[in-house]
Amino acid sequence: MKEESVFLLGTQRVNSAGHLEIGGCDTVQLAEEHGTPLYVMDEAHIRATMRAMREAFRRRHAESEVIYASKAFPCMAMSRIVAQEGLMLDAASAGELFTALRADFPAERIVFHGNNKSRDELDMAVRAGIGRVVVDNEAELDLLDEVAGALDTTQKIMLRLTPAVDPHTHRYIQTGRVDTKFGFNIEGGGALRGVQKALTNQNLEVTGLSCHIGSQILDADFFTMGARLMCEFLAQVKTELGVTFPDLDLGGGLGIRYLPEDAPPSLDDYAEAVVGTVRDCCAKLGLEMPRLHIEPGRSLVGEAGTTLYRVGSIKRIPGVRTYVAADGGISDNPRPALYEARYHAINASRATEEELETVTISGKHCETDTLIEDIALAPAQTGDVLAVQSTGAYNHAMSSNYNRFRRPAVVLVNEGRADTIVERETLQDLLSHDLVPGRLRA
Ligand code: LLP
Repeated sequence: MKEESVFLLGTQRVNSAGHLEIGGCDTVQLAEEHGTPLYVMDEAHIRATMRAMREAFRRRHAESEVIYASKAFPCMAMSRIVAQEGLMLDAASAGELFTALRADFPAERIVFHGNNKSRDELDMAVRAGIGRVVVDNEAELDLLDEVAGALDTTQKIMLRLTPAVDPHTHRYIQTGRVDTKFGFNIEGGGALRGVQKALTNQNLEVTGLSCHIGSQILDADFFTMGARLMCEFLAQVKTELGVTFPDLDLGGGLGIRYLPEDAPPSLDDYAEAVVGTVRDCCAKLGLEMPRLHIEPGRSLVGEAGTTLYRVGSIKRIPGVRTYVAADGGISDNPRPALYEARYHAINASRATEEELETVTISGKHCETDTLIEDIALAPAQTGDVLAVQSTGAYNHAMSSNYNRFRRPAVVLVNEGRADTIVERETLQDLLSHDLVPGRLRA
């Protein structure tokens, strides 16, 4: 196999041993030293993408903020990187908030999301002094107003709106349609009523409006549509209620390359679609250009992650299929099963060899947990290291202990160093919440 034909992302390259290398680390050695499955995160790639994203927006509009949607990959080390790169952070649960705060992420640069936040979560957020709560519905307006009042403070909020955009991503990850649990619908007047109500809440200060139309979006036109609908609503609010807000948050959703043929918009095309549309619409509608927020998750970390597996059993069914079993599966990557997500992989142990064999990579769970169906690989042998690419977003974050598998470790690689940023769970960890009542001990 010639290097030009290999699908390589970030700092991935093929080294002189014929192995896949990431961040200057030989993946076969990483697998040896850290065990498998192993998530490998390419620090240089993450930082470069964050900078490029921030730059693409700042260049077009000085008052832009990139907010890392931490749900894609939340952990303390990531919170540090996000802070160092000057991004804000989106937390969508008490756990994500706790993770960021414990990593000393500045509270005022955190945005708190969720369609059903509990009183405890809101209390935690307000006490911490977080920058913005994105309020999803009327009941939450009252609950948050009460919580802020009890703490004798005013909480800055944005309102989560639903513009009717229908991006053609998998229906499980679409969020901006009319028929959705999220936010105040613009269609039907819910959003206008929400704004009206929020303005009467004593302990809340509305700084702006927010939306998120979906995820893994590969066509920039959907962002244009979302931005236009939000601007038109801003104009309606100005006309009907006489108010304007300084902030406009257009959510995340930019897609990434999972397969060599995937072609997401470039960061510049994406920024142009968002900023250009908002600028044009504001000019046309007589609005001032708002401060712009975007909330990418997947596009900041997805391509920077690779999962390493060790090949175990290989089952050849002549004339039918060859199954190559990885030592993980649905527990470390539920996305193929949940979203029919497709991935690309490289035989990291034989990265210079021709991909002569088409195989199906299965997991090792007690069900048919196919990770990749029909992929051309350099013929795999038991003991080889397989690298599945673009697993940096929503893989570790969505991993589980199904079949009592231990969640894998995550290493952060850069310039030949590999630091563990999430430890592999131990067998003992699996028992850490089990209790056996006395009456079962007899
Ligand atoms: N902002 C809000 C309010 C969101 O709900 C999300 C993602 C984002 C930002 C970040 O979106 P991104 O840039 O990552 O597309 N588990 C699914 C993805 C669910 C996304 C949920 N919300 C998956 O594995 O594909």
